[in-house]
Amino acid sequence: METNIMRLLELTRPSLEQAYSILDRAGFEEIAHGSYAEIFYRDGDPFVLRLYANSDRAYADFIEFAMDGTHRGNPHLPRFRGRPMKVNNEYSSVRMEKLAPCHMVDIVTDMQMFVVFREHYARHPKDDPKENPEYQKAIGILELKPKLLELLAALVDDLIVKHGYQDDIDINNVMMRANDTLVLIDPVCGKGF
Ligand SMILES: Nc1ncnc2c1ncn2[C@@H]1O[C@H](COP(=O)(O)OP(=O)(O)O)[C@@H](O)[C@H]1O
Ligand SMILES: [Mg+2]
Repeated sequence: METNIMRLLELTRPSLEQAYSILDRAGFEEIAHGSYAEIFYRDGDPFVLRLYANSDRAYADFIEFAMDGTHRGNPHLPRFRGRPMKVNNEYSSVRMEKLAPCHMVDIVTDMQMFVVFREHYARHPKDDPKENPEYQKAIGILELKPKLLELLAALVDDLIVKHGYQDDIDINNVMMRANDTLVLIDPVCGKGF
C-alpha cells in the first residue's frame, strides 16, 4: 500500500528537518543528492520523491517545460506523478519515476556538444554550422535518436535561448530507464555557476 506522503507533507507543511524525519519514519531513505535536490526512495516503489529548493527556478521551469503539451510524451523526459507541490517557502517536492544511472558516457558528450553549438548558432546566425565537424558528428549520432535530438533542440530554443538558463548536461543529469532510454533529469541551471 502506498502511503500518500505528498499529502502528508502538504497537510503538515514541515520544515526540511521535520520532513527528513517524517520520511524516515515512513520508510523512505535518501538515495542521492545534488546541490539543489535530495532524492528519497522507499523499497518497492516505482517512484522516488524529489525535494528541491524553491530557489532552483531552472528546475521549476524545466518541470513546466516537461509537463507542457508540446513536449509531454517525449520518451526522454522524466515521468512525473502528479504536480509538484510547494511544501513551504524553502522547498518543494515532486514524485518522479525511479531511474538508473546512465552508463552511456559517449552519447552524453555528444549531447553536450550539440547543445553548446546549437546555442552558439542560435546566437550567431552568420556562422556556418556546416563548417563545424564536431557539431555535425554530434548531430549524426543523435539523429539515430530523433526524439532526443528534437528534445535537445527545444531545450536550447526555449529554456536556454528564451529563458536564459545555462545548459547543465552531464552524466549526473542524464539517467536511464530499465530499457536503456536516456532521460534528461536536470538539464539546465541558473546563470552564473
Ligand atoms: N528519478 C530519479 N531516480 C533515481 N535517482 C535520481 C532521480 N533523480 C535524481 N536522482 C539522483 O539524484 C541526483 C541529483 O538529482 P538532480 O535532479 O540532478 O538534482 P540537483 O539539482 O541537485 O543536481 C542525480 O544526479 C541522481 O543521482
Ligand atoms: Mg543535477
